[in-house]
Amino acid sequence: MAIGIDKIGFFTSPYYLDIVDLAHARNEEPNKFLIGIGQKKQSVIPPTQDVVTLAANAAEKILSTADKQQIDMIIFGTETGIDNSKSAAIYIQSLLGISNQARSFEIKQACYGGTAGLQMGVEHIRLHPDSKVLVLAADIARYGINTPGEVTQGGGAVAMLLAADPQILEIEDKRTFYSDNIMDFWRPLYRKDAVVDGHYSNEIYIDFFKRTWELYQQKYNRQLDDFSSLIFHLPYTKMGLKALRSIIDESNHPQTLLAQFEASRVYNALVGNLYTGSLYLSLISLLANSNQLAGGSLIGLFSYGSGAQGEFYSARISNRFDNKNLKREMTDLLANRQQLTIDQYQDMYRSALSLSNENQKFDLSNDSSDFVLAGRQDDQRLYQSQK
Ligand code: COA
Repeated sequence: MAIGIDKIGFFTSPYYLDIVDLAHARNEEPNKFLIGIGQKKQSVIPPTQDVVTLAANAAEKILSTADKQQIDMIIFGTETGIDNSKSAAIYIQSLLGISNQARSFEIKQACYGGTAGLQMGVEHIRLHPDSKVLVLAADIARYGINTPGEVTQGGGAVAMLLAADPQILEIEDKRTFYSDNIMDFWRPLYRKDAVVDGHYSNEIYIDFFKRTWELYQQKYNRQLDDFSSLIFHLPYTKMGLKALRSIIDESNHPQTLLAQFEASRVYNALVGNLYTGSLYLSLISLLANSNQLAGGSLIGLFSYGSGAQGEFYSARISNRFDNKNLKREMTDLLANRQQLTIDQYQDMYRSALSLSNENQKFDLSNDSSDFVLAGRQDDQRLYQSQK
Protein backbone atom coordinates (compact mmCIF):
# COMPACT_ATOMS: atom_id res chain seq x y z
CA MET A 1 0.00 0.00 0.00
CA ALA A 2 1.41 3.41 -1.00
CA ILE A 3 1.29 6.00 1.81
CA GLY A 4 2.47 9.58 1.75
CA ILE A 5 1.72 13.23 1.07
CA ASP A 6 -1.73 13.67 -0.44
CA LYS A 7 -1.88 17.47 -0.13
CA ILE A 8 0.74 20.08 0.77
CA GLY A 9 0.38 23.79 1.59
CA PHE A 10 2.68 26.62 2.60
CA PHE A 11 2.21 29.94 4.35
CA THR A 12 4.54 32.73 5.34
CA SER A 13 4.41 36.35 6.43
CA PRO A 14 3.14 39.06 4.06
CA TYR A 15 6.41 40.97 4.75
CA TYR A 16 9.97 40.46 3.56
CA LEU A 17 13.41 42.04 3.70
CA ASP A 18 15.63 42.19 0.61
CA ILE A 19 18.98 40.51 1.38
CA VAL A 20 20.95 43.17 -0.56
CA ASP A 21 19.47 45.84 1.75
CA LEU A 22 20.58 43.75 4.72
CA ALA A 23 24.10 43.37 3.27
CA HIS A 24 24.41 47.15 2.80
CA ALA A 25 23.15 47.82 6.34
CA ARG A 26 25.69 45.38 7.81
CA ASN A 27 28.62 46.53 5.63
CA GLU A 28 28.86 43.16 3.90
CA GLU A 29 29.54 42.48 0.22
CA PRO A 30 26.07 41.61 -1.27
CA ASN A 31 27.49 38.57 -3.07
CA LYS A 32 28.49 37.05 0.26
CA PHE A 33 24.78 36.88 1.12
CA LEU A 34 23.48 36.22 -2.42
CA ILE A 35 26.06 33.59 -3.45
CA GLY A 36 28.05 32.66 -0.33
CA ILE A 37 24.87 32.12 1.74
CA GLY A 38 22.47 31.66 -1.20
CA GLN A 39 19.60 33.86 0.01
CA LYS A 40 17.71 36.63 -1.85
CA LYS A 41 14.91 37.65 0.50
CA GLN A 42 13.80 36.73 4.01
CA SER A 43 10.32 36.63 5.47
CA VAL A 44 9.85 38.96 8.43
CA ILE A 45 7.20 37.69 10.81
CA PRO A 46 4.87 40.37 12.27
CA PRO A 47 3.73 40.16 15.92
CA THR A 48 0.29 39.14 14.64
CA GLN A 49 1.66 35.75 13.48
CA ASP A 50 3.13 32.91 15.56
CA VAL A 51 3.65 29.23 14.79
CA VAL A 52 -0.01 28.45 15.50
CA THR A 53 -1.39 31.06 13.08
CA LEU A 54 1.28 30.35 10.44
CA ALA A 55 0.37 26.64 10.52
CA ALA A 56 -3.39 27.31 10.63
CA ASN A 57 -3.07 29.55 7.56
CA ALA A 58 -1.05 26.86 5.72
CA ALA A 59 -3.45 24.04 6.61
CA GLU A 60 -6.67 25.92 5.90
CA LYS A 61 -5.63 26.28 2.25
CA ILE A 62 -5.46 22.52 1.66
CA LEU A 63 -8.13 20.93 3.86
CA SER A 64 -11.67 20.18 2.69
CA THR A 65 -14.57 19.79 5.12
CA ALA A 66 -14.38 16.01 4.55
CA ASP A 67 -10.64 15.99 5.34
CA LYS A 68 -11.32 17.77 8.64
CA GLN A 69 -13.72 15.00 9.65
CA GLN A 70 -11.40 12.20 8.52
CA ILE A 71 -8.20 13.45 10.21
CA ASP A 72 -7.61 11.35 13.32
CA MET A 73 -4.13 12.62 14.18
CA ILE A 74 -2.58 16.11 14.18
CA ILE A 75 1.18 16.22 14.72
CA PHE A 76 2.80 19.64 15.15
CA GLY A 77 6.59 19.76 14.69
CA THR A 78 8.17 22.97 15.95
CA GLU A 79 11.10 24.36 17.92
CA THR A 80 9.29 27.69 18.40
CA GLY A 81 6.74 26.29 20.85
CA ILE A 82 4.44 28.77 22.58
CA ASP A 83 3.88 26.79 25.78
CA ASN A 84 5.79 24.18 27.80
CA SER A 85 2.63 22.17 28.36
CA LYS A 86 -0.14 22.70 25.85
CA SER A 87 0.60 21.68 22.27
CA ALA A 88 0.19 23.97 19.27
CA ALA A 89 -1.74 21.09 17.63
CA ILE A 90 -4.70 21.57 20.01
CA TYR A 91 -5.09 25.18 18.87
CA ILE A 92 -5.05 24.01 15.24
CA GLN A 93 -7.73 21.40 15.94
CA SER A 94 -9.97 24.11 17.33
CA LEU A 95 -9.19 26.97 14.89
CA LEU A 96 -9.74 24.75 11.84
CA GLY A 97 -12.70 22.77 13.19
CA ILE A 98 -10.96 19.38 12.86
CA SER A 99 -12.73 16.36 14.39
CA ASN A 100 -12.62 16.23 18.21
CA GLN A 101 -11.81 12.54 17.87
CA ALA A 102 -8.32 13.38 16.57
CA ARG A 103 -5.19 12.78 18.65
CA SER A 104 -3.36 16.12 18.77
CA PHE A 105 0.19 16.65 20.02
CA GLU A 106 3.48 18.45 19.44
CA ILE A 107 6.97 17.01 18.91
CA LYS A 108 10.40 18.60 19.07
CA GLN A 109 13.93 17.90 17.90
CA ALA A 110 15.10 21.18 16.36
CA CYS A 111 14.60 21.17 12.57
CA TYR A 112 13.90 17.41 12.56
CA GLY A 113 10.41 17.63 14.15
CA GLY A 114 8.52 17.82 10.83
CA THR A 115 10.22 14.66 9.55
CA ALA A 116 9.59 12.81 12.83
CA GLY A 117 5.91 13.76 12.52
CA LEU A 118 5.71 12.72 8.90
CA GLN A 119 7.24 9.28 9.52
CA MET A 120 5.05 8.73 12.58
CA GLY A 121 1.99 9.66 10.52
CA VAL A 122 2.96 7.26 7.74
CA GLU A 123 3.35 4.42 10.25
CA HIS A 124 -0.06 5.23 11.75
CA ILE A 125 -1.70 5.01 8.32
CA ARG A 126 0.09 1.71 7.60
CA LEU A 127 -1.85 0.28 10.58
CA HIS A 128 -5.05 2.24 9.86
CA PRO A 129 -5.34 2.71 6.07
CA ASP A 130 -8.52 4.83 6.24
CA SER A 131 -6.91 7.43 8.48
CA LYS A 132 -5.74 10.85 7.44
CA VAL A 133 -2.96 12.56 9.39
CA LEU A 134 -2.25 16.30 9.41
CA VAL A 135 1.45 17.08 9.89
CA LEU A 136 2.46 20.70 10.55
CA ALA A 137 6.02 21.99 10.41
CA ALA A 138 6.21 25.63 11.51
CA ASP A 139 8.93 27.85 12.96
CA ILE A 140 10.22 31.38 13.21
CA ALA A 141 14.02 31.53 12.74
CA ARG A 142 15.57 34.26 14.87
CA TYR A 143 19.28 34.87 15.53
CA GLY A 144 19.23 38.55 16.48
CA ILE A 145 19.85 41.89 14.82
CA ASN A 146 23.44 42.34 13.62
CA THR A 147 24.53 38.75 14.28
CA PRO A 148 26.22 36.36 11.78
CA GLY A 149 23.04 34.28 11.70
CA GLU A 150 20.79 37.26 10.84
CA VAL A 151 21.10 36.64 7.10
CA THR A 152 19.66 33.14 7.64
CA GLN A 153 16.47 34.22 9.45
CA GLY A 154 12.95 33.67 8.09
CA GLY A 155 9.80 31.82 9.05
CA GLY A 156 6.69 30.05 7.84
CA ALA A 157 4.73 26.82 7.94
CA VAL A 158 4.23 23.74 5.79
CA ALA A 159 1.05 21.69 6.22
CA MET A 160 0.95 18.12 4.88
CA LEU A 161 -2.07 15.86 4.71
CA LEU A 162 -0.95 12.22 4.77
CA ALA A 163 -3.11 9.45 3.36
CA ALA A 164 -3.04 6.07 1.62
CA ASP A 165 -2.78 6.22 -2.19
CA PRO A 166 -1.46 9.82 -2.04
CA GLN A 167 -1.68 12.28 -4.92
CA ILE A 168 1.80 13.83 -4.48
CA LEU A 169 4.53 11.74 -2.86
CA GLU A 170 4.77 8.08 -1.79
CA ILE A 171 7.09 7.65 1.21
CA GLU A 172 9.20 4.49 0.99
CA ASP A 173 9.89 2.37 4.07
CA LYS A 174 13.62 2.97 3.56
CA ARG A 175 15.41 5.29 5.98
CA THR A 176 18.56 5.61 8.03
CA PHE A 177 19.30 7.64 11.16
CA TYR A 178 22.25 9.10 13.04
CA SER A 179 22.07 10.95 16.36
CA ASP A 180 24.59 12.31 18.85
CA ASN A 181 24.70 14.82 21.71
CA ILE A 182 26.06 17.95 19.97
CA MET A 183 25.89 21.61 21.08
CA ASP A 184 25.78 23.29 17.65
CA PHE A 185 22.48 25.18 17.98
CA TRP A 186 19.87 25.41 20.74
CA ARG A 187 17.18 27.75 22.08
CA PRO A 188 17.13 28.02 25.90
CA LEU A 189 13.65 28.62 27.35
CA TYR A 190 14.51 32.17 28.45
CA ARG A 191 15.49 33.28 24.92
CA LYS A 192 13.58 34.03 21.73
CA ASP A 193 16.77 34.01 19.61
CA ALA A 194 18.86 30.87 19.00
CA VAL A 195 22.34 30.23 20.40
CA VAL A 196 24.39 28.90 17.50
CA ASP A 197 27.95 27.96 16.62
CA GLY A 198 27.32 28.38 12.90
CA HIS A 199 30.53 26.97 11.43
CA TYR A 200 30.48 23.96 13.78
CA SER A 201 26.82 23.40 12.90
CA ASN A 202 27.73 23.33 9.19
CA GLU A 203 30.41 20.69 9.84
CA ILE A 204 28.06 18.48 11.85
CA TYR A 205 25.34 18.80 9.20
CA ILE A 206 27.69 17.55 6.46
CA ASP A 207 29.02 14.80 8.72
CA PHE A 208 25.52 13.54 9.57
CA PHE A 209 24.48 13.75 5.90
CA LYS A 210 27.41 11.61 4.78
CA ARG A 211 26.87 9.10 7.58
CA THR A 212 23.15 8.62 6.88
CA TRP A 213 23.75 8.53 3.11
CA GLU A 214 26.44 5.84 3.47
CA LEU A 215 24.22 3.83 5.83
CA TYR A 216 21.36 4.11 3.32
CA GLN A 217 23.53 2.92 0.44
CA GLN A 218 24.73 -0.11 2.42
CA LYS A 219 21.30 -1.00 3.81
CA TYR A 220 19.32 -0.71 0.56
CA ASN A 221 22.02 -1.29 -2.05
CA ARG A 222 21.22 1.91 -3.93
CA GLN A 223 23.60 4.41 -5.58
CA LEU A 224 23.41 8.14 -6.28
CA ASP A 225 22.46 7.54 -9.91
CA ASP A 226 19.30 5.70 -8.78
CA PHE A 227 17.91 9.08 -7.63
CA SER A 228 16.37 11.72 -9.87
CA SER A 229 17.09 14.33 -7.17
CA LEU A 230 18.35 14.81 -3.63
CA ILE A 231 16.80 17.51 -1.46
CA PHE A 232 17.93 18.86 1.90
CA HIS A 233 17.03 20.69 5.04
CA LEU A 234 18.00 24.23 4.01
CA PRO A 235 18.88 26.56 6.93
CA TYR A 236 20.22 28.66 4.05
CA THR A 237 20.36 27.37 0.52
CA LYS A 238 24.17 27.18 0.18
CA MET A 239 24.13 24.57 2.99
CA GLY A 240 22.31 22.04 0.81
CA LEU A 241 24.61 22.77 -2.11
CA LYS A 242 27.62 22.05 0.09
CA ALA A 243 26.09 18.72 1.14
CA LEU A 244 25.29 17.74 -2.45
CA ARG A 245 28.78 18.71 -3.62
CA SER A 246 30.29 16.50 -0.90
CA ILE A 247 29.06 13.37 -2.74
CA ILE A 248 28.48 14.64 -6.31
CA ASP A 249 31.55 12.78 -7.64
CA GLU A 250 29.63 9.53 -7.09
CA SER A 251 27.24 10.53 -9.91
CA ASN A 252 27.51 9.97 -13.66
CA HIS A 253 24.96 12.76 -14.24
CA PRO A 254 26.03 15.49 -11.79
CA GLN A 255 24.57 18.30 -13.91
CA THR A 256 21.08 16.80 -13.63
CA LEU A 257 21.33 16.54 -9.84
CA LEU A 258 22.65 20.10 -9.61
CA ALA A 259 19.82 21.39 -11.85
CA GLN A 260 17.28 19.58 -9.67
CA PHE A 261 18.89 21.12 -6.60
CA GLU A 262 18.48 24.58 -8.16
CA ALA A 263 14.74 23.89 -8.61
CA SER A 264 14.55 22.76 -4.98
CA ARG A 265 15.96 25.98 -3.54
CA VAL A 266 13.96 28.61 -5.47
CA TYR A 267 11.43 29.29 -2.69
CA ASN A 268 13.83 28.79 0.24
CA ALA A 269 16.02 31.58 -1.20
CA LEU A 270 12.97 33.88 -1.12
CA VAL A 271 11.67 32.93 2.36
CA GLY A 272 14.73 32.08 4.47
CA ASN A 273 14.88 29.48 7.19
CA LEU A 274 11.74 27.98 8.68
CA TYR A 275 13.56 25.28 10.65
CA THR A 276 11.32 22.15 10.71
CA GLY A 277 9.52 23.27 7.56
CA SER A 278 12.63 24.01 5.49
CA LEU A 279 13.06 20.54 3.98
CA TYR A 280 9.37 20.53 3.05
CA LEU A 281 9.48 24.02 1.51
CA SER A 282 12.37 22.65 -0.55
CA LEU A 283 10.17 19.72 -1.56
CA ILE A 284 7.43 22.17 -2.64
CA SER A 285 10.05 24.12 -4.58
CA LEU A 286 11.24 20.98 -6.39
CA LEU A 287 7.68 19.86 -7.15
CA ALA A 288 6.70 23.28 -8.52
CA ASN A 289 9.89 24.21 -10.39
CA SER A 290 11.44 21.01 -11.73
CA ASN A 291 10.63 19.99 -15.31
CA GLN A 292 12.34 16.63 -14.89
CA LEU A 293 10.03 14.88 -12.44
CA ALA A 294 7.66 12.13 -13.58
CA GLY A 295 5.48 9.56 -11.85
CA GLY A 296 7.81 7.10 -10.09
CA SER A 297 10.83 9.47 -9.92
CA LEU A 298 12.93 8.61 -6.88
CA ILE A 299 13.81 11.45 -4.49
CA GLY A 300 16.25 11.31 -1.56
CA LEU A 301 15.48 13.59 1.40
CA PHE A 302 17.99 14.59 4.08
CA SER A 303 16.53 15.92 7.31
CA TYR A 304 18.74 17.46 10.01
CA GLY A 305 17.90 18.82 13.43
CA SER A 306 20.69 20.40 15.45
CA GLY A 307 21.56 18.87 18.75
CA ALA A 308 21.61 16.56 16.67
CA GLN A 309 19.49 14.12 14.64
CA GLY A 310 19.93 13.22 10.98
CA GLU A 311 17.71 11.09 8.76
CA PHE A 312 18.03 10.15 5.09
CA TYR A 313 14.93 8.65 3.49
CA SER A 314 13.45 8.13 0.05
CA ALA A 315 10.14 8.72 -1.70
CA ARG A 316 8.61 8.45 -5.16
CA ILE A 317 6.54 10.98 -7.08
CA SER A 318 2.95 9.79 -7.43
CA ASN A 319 1.68 8.98 -10.93
CA ARG A 320 -1.22 11.35 -10.23
CA PHE A 321 0.94 14.38 -9.39
CA ASP A 322 0.38 17.60 -11.38
CA ASN A 323 2.27 20.74 -10.29
CA LYS A 324 0.21 23.50 -11.94
CA ASN A 325 -1.88 24.58 -8.94
CA LEU A 326 1.06 24.40 -6.52
CA LYS A 327 3.20 26.61 -8.73
CA ARG A 328 0.44 29.19 -9.20
CA GLU A 329 -0.35 29.35 -5.48
CA MET A 330 3.32 29.74 -4.52
CA THR A 331 3.91 32.42 -7.13
CA ASP A 332 0.87 34.38 -5.91
CA LEU A 333 1.81 34.09 -2.23
CA LEU A 334 5.42 35.18 -2.70
CA ALA A 335 4.68 37.92 -5.25
CA ASN A 336 2.09 39.59 -3.03
CA ARG A 337 4.40 40.28 -0.10
CA GLN A 338 5.34 43.79 0.97
CA GLN A 339 9.00 44.82 1.12
CA LEU A 340 10.24 46.38 4.38
CA THR A 341 13.05 48.86 4.89
CA ILE A 342 15.79 47.94 7.37
CA ASP A 343 14.23 50.19 10.00
CA GLN A 344 10.78 48.66 9.48
CA TYR A 345 12.26 45.15 9.72
CA GLN A 346 14.10 45.98 12.96
CA ASP A 347 10.97 47.52 14.49
CA MET A 348 8.88 44.49 13.51
CA TYR A 349 11.53 42.09 14.83
CA ARG A 350 11.52 43.86 18.20
CA SER A 351 7.71 44.00 18.41
CA ALA A 352 7.20 40.20 18.74
CA LEU A 353 5.20 39.08 21.79
CA SER A 354 7.39 39.58 24.85
CA LEU A 355 8.65 36.75 27.07
CA SER A 356 7.01 38.37 30.12
CA ASN A 357 3.38 37.91 31.20
CA GLU A 358 2.26 41.46 30.37
CA ASN A 359 -1.07 41.85 28.58
CA GLN A 360 -0.57 42.97 24.98
CA LYS A 361 -2.93 43.93 22.16
CA PHE A 362 -1.76 44.02 18.53
CA ASP A 363 -2.98 46.25 15.69
CA LEU A 364 -4.56 43.80 13.22
CA SER A 365 -5.22 46.32 10.47
CA ASN A 366 -2.06 45.35 8.54
CA ASP A 367 -2.57 41.59 8.63
CA SER A 368 -5.46 40.23 6.58
CA SER A 369 -4.46 36.55 6.96
CA ASP A 370 -7.23 34.06 7.78
CA PHE A 371 -5.83 33.48 11.27
CA VAL A 372 -4.04 36.06 13.42
CA LEU A 373 -2.68 36.51 16.93
CA ALA A 374 -4.55 39.45 18.47
CA GLY A 375 -2.42 39.64 21.63
CA ARG A 376 -2.24 38.16 25.11
CA GLN A 377 -4.60 38.53 28.04
CA ASP A 378 -4.24 36.90 31.48
CA ASP A 379 -1.46 34.56 30.22
CA GLN A 380 -3.55 33.35 27.25
CA ARG A 381 -2.72 33.99 23.61
CA LEU A 382 -5.71 35.46 21.79
CA TYR A 383 -6.23 33.84 18.40
CA GLN A 384 -8.72 35.22 15.94
CA SER A 385 -10.22 34.01 12.67
CA GLN A 386 -10.72 36.73 10.05
CA LYS A 387 -12.33 34.41 7.47
N1 COA B 1 31.08 36.44 -2.84
C1 COA B 1 30.71 35.13 -2.79
N2 COA B 1 30.87 34.35 -1.68
C2 COA B 1 31.38 34.94 -0.57
C3 COA B 1 31.78 36.31 -0.55
C4 COA B 1 31.61 37.07 -1.76
N3 COA B 1 31.93 38.36 -1.81
N4 COA B 1 32.24 36.58 0.68
C5 COA B 1 32.15 35.43 1.42
N5 COA B 1 31.64 34.45 0.66
C6 COA B 1 31.33 33.07 1.06
C7 COA B 1 32.38 32.42 1.92
O1 COA B 1 33.46 31.91 1.14
C8 COA B 1 31.56 31.30 2.57
O2 COA B 1 31.37 30.24 1.66
P1 COA B 1 31.63 28.71 2.12
O3 COA B 1 30.71 28.48 3.29
O4 COA B 1 31.28 27.92 0.91
O5 COA B 1 33.05 28.62 2.53
C9 COA B 1 30.19 31.95 2.76
O6 COA B 1 30.18 33.11 1.91
C10 COA B 1 29.88 32.39 4.18
O7 COA B 1 30.97 33.14 4.63
P2 COA B 1 31.45 33.04 6.15
O8 COA B 1 32.63 33.93 6.32
O9 COA B 1 31.60 31.61 6.55
O10 COA B 1 30.18 33.68 6.86
P3 COA B 1 29.89 33.91 8.37
O11 COA B 1 31.10 33.69 9.23
O12 COA B 1 29.21 35.23 8.45
O13 COA B 1 28.87 32.75 8.81
C11 COA B 1 27.04 31.20 8.78
C12 COA B 1 27.96 32.10 7.93
C13 COA B 1 26.17 30.38 7.85
C14 COA B 1 27.88 30.24 9.61
C15 COA B 1 26.18 32.09 9.71
O14 COA B 1 25.33 32.88 8.91
C16 COA B 1 25.33 31.31 10.68
O15 COA B 1 25.79 30.98 11.79
N6 COA B 1 24.08 30.99 10.31
C17 COA B 1 23.20 30.15 11.11
C18 COA B 1 23.64 28.73 10.87
C19 COA B 1 22.53 27.77 11.00
O16 COA B 1 21.46 28.01 10.52
N7 COA B 1 22.80 26.63 11.63
C20 COA B 1 21.83 25.61 11.73
C21 COA B 1 22.19 24.59 10.71
S1 COA B 1 20.99 23.38 10.67
